[in-house]
Amino acid sequence: MRENRSNRGVWGSKIGFTLAAAGSAIGLGNIWLFPTVAGQNGGAAFVLIYVGCVLLIGVPVMIAELSLGRRAQSDPVGTFKSLAPKTWWKAVGALGVFTGFMILSAYTVVAGWTVKYILITVSGQFAGANPESIGRIFTEFVGDGFAVLLYHFVFMALTVWIVIGGIEKGIEKATKILMPLLFGLLLLLVLRSVTLQGAVEGVTFYLYPDFSKVTFGVIMAALGQAFFSLSLGMGAMITYGSYLSRNDNLVSSALYVSLADTLIAFLAGFAIFPALFSVSGLSPTEGASLIFLVLPNIFNAIPLGQLFGAAFFFLLAIAALTSTISLLEVVVAYLIDQLQWQRKLAALLVGSSAFLLGIPSALSNGSVSFLSQLWKSSQETLSLMDLVFLYFGKISLAVGALLICLFVGWKWGIRSALKEIRSGYPSFALAPLWTFLVRYACPVAIAIILASYFRS
Ligand code: TRP
Repeated sequence: MRENRSNRGVWGSKIGFTLAAAGSAIGLGNIWLFPTVAGQNGGAAFVLIYVGCVLLIGVPVMIAELSLGRRAQSDPVGTFKSLAPKTWWKAVGALGVFTGFMILSAYTVVAGWTVKYILITVSGQFAGANPESIGRIFTEFVGDGFAVLLYHFVFMALTVWIVIGGIEKGIEKATKILMPLLFGLLLLLVLRSVTLQGAVEGVTFYLYPDFSKVTFGVIMAALGQAFFSLSLGMGAMITYGSYLSRNDNLVSSALYVSLADTLIAFLAGFAIFPALFSVSGLSPTEGASLIFLVLPNIFNAIPLGQLFGAAFFFLLAIAALTSTISLLEVVVAYLIDQLQWQRKLAALLVGSSAFLLGIPSALSNGSVSFLSQLWKSSQETLSLMDLVFLYFGKISLAVGALLICLFVGWKWGIRSALKEIRSGYPSFALAPLWTFLVRYACPVAIAIILASYFRS
């Protein structure tokens, strides 16, 4: 372990950090949520807007978060406390910690589904099954409250166990080998998906934009998805940045992480939509069940599909795990740094409360969806889980990112931020562009998108 200003531990290597931050970023957001949201928002035009959001808003915000974390060497609340003492800014950190906790509670539910899918695939239940029976297997599973809770619990327990192990040991090792494997497997799925009969329609849906369908809702979806997928807006990258050393280049780290994350999301959509259109009877607006209904069909169409399928869901579960670790780590870091809790106690307590809080979300997708009837959106009934993802996974992150931009651009100050960035990257040629984005473009864009979203 290298040295840094305090004794909080540092990433063993630059590549270790990049992989761990990529591990936080890459998860269900890329493979489950991205195709789901892209499908609900019209396909190709959404994808383009998404990439724009990542480049123009996501990357600058990530650089801002990393510089905050490395400067302050603290959790999100401590970061704002130390850089703007005796002000209300610490509320931004608190909002982040709370948001992370809420996201975690629903995230492990879906992560649990992926674990169940490893087992279903291994057991051969999907082998040769037609789309209807694949659909039935899914519906039966999510309707089985006990099973869903069991996997939700297993996943949370796994997360807690790793977070108790500490930073370096736990997170760094797994990501190094497994994320590149996931990438390779996705590539394979894309190849098979686009060569299926009738795949062209799906390729068109995914790649030829129809801008007439773009509304503020679509732009909001893209922006929220970018924050969620890049793990921004709640201080996860502040926490991770706090484990970086002064000679690390924050800008290249942010670029690598964003690039890897976006590539994986793009490939996931590219695997899903051609296959979806080739299987008659499924619609891209399927929602939370989308990938669980489509992927088994692709595995059925490749040799050794059972093996590849099981491997895929295993890697997806690992990707989800490196993300839940980062969500829990933010809350735990807060309790350790601010309230002097023991790591073990903090992880156990936060994990169990997030598990309990997730129970209604877990039960809101199956036949017991009476809870979801309480809230109706204009087009469809949202399950409680959808609502948690909407309010905390989308809106709250956008609000957080907006406040982080304002803080770095105007309160802590661009000068201090640039000084921090330059300590590991002296030339930083794009400093003027970054300054403009963080001070003006990003806050204005985020504020407009948020406001229009609520007005429409
Ligand atoms: N980015 C992760 C994903 O795409 C989810 C996640 C992990 C996250 N940590 C986060 C989202 C922090 C927002 C903030 O699956």
